[in-house]
Amino acid sequence: MRKRIVAGNWKMNLSLDEAMALANELKVKIDALRGSAVAEEDNPLPEVVLFPPYVYITRILDMFSGYKGVWVGSQNCHHEEQGAYTGEVASLMIRSAGASHVIIGHSERRSQFGEDDALLARKTKQALKNGLTPVFCCGEMLPEREAGTHFGVVTEQLKNGLFWMDESQLAKTVIAYEPVWAIGTGVTASPDQAQEMHAHIRKLVAGTYGEPSAENMTILYGGSCNAKNATDLFSQPDVDGGLIGGASLKADDFSRIIQSLWTT
Ligand code: PGA
Repeated sequence: MRKRIVAGNWKMNLSLDEAMALANELKVKIDALRGSAVAEEDNPLPEVVLFPPYVYITRILDMFSGYKGVWVGSQNCHHEEQGAYTGEVASLMIRSAGASHVIIGHSERRSQFGEDDALLARKTKQALKNGLTPVFCCGEMLPEREAGTHFGVVTEQLKNGLFWMDESQLAKTVIAYEPVWAIGTGVTASPDQAQEMHAHIRKLVAGTYGEPSAENMTILYGGSCNAKNATDLFSQPDVDGGLIGGASLKADDFSRIIQSLWTT
């Protein structure tokens, strides 16, 4: 079954104290949402995945220990198993620290750190090998959208970065569509634009892996998604949740986004 997920990408923000305070506040808000559930059994809260900076992962995990439906992941991983890579962090370490997910191919990694599809394929391999769920990001830049090549750009990113997998590996993967022009800009894709691309991605998955795989694929939208526009975006049939940057740093906004997905 397709999972519904709200993920918070904290990026390189917050001191440890601030991160702990945010996590604590979030816990209270999620408890309140759960408390308001009329029939949680029939309509469980969407899954929540938090992506703090590496150094806070174990602390945030401790805070949510024994807590159902809240997961913690890393914002990146290295493409090798281990070795002489000063300053880098391997999937094996992330998993052994207790995290469950990893963001791969975020546009900030692609553009600022020169990560290309071939490297991202190696990262997803490492992640899966070590039992992490890759959240694989794709999305076009503004000139590509303006030139009308956005479908082709996303197709290539998925073909090269992701479609090396077999069906069972793909089933453990989440895709996030994040148009680069919408990330951190306050300009969000319209619900129609998001739906159109999500449907395109699902069709690509169907073409390579068959309808059941496509039907079960979780595809998140990311890029200036906030408490105001989340409901409209999440009401699209192929949008299964969100990867949230800026708005995930405010417990109130983030919990309202969770609520939007829950009630849509
Ligand atoms: P944003 O970031 O919500 O701040 O636009 C999304 C992301 O980069 O994942």
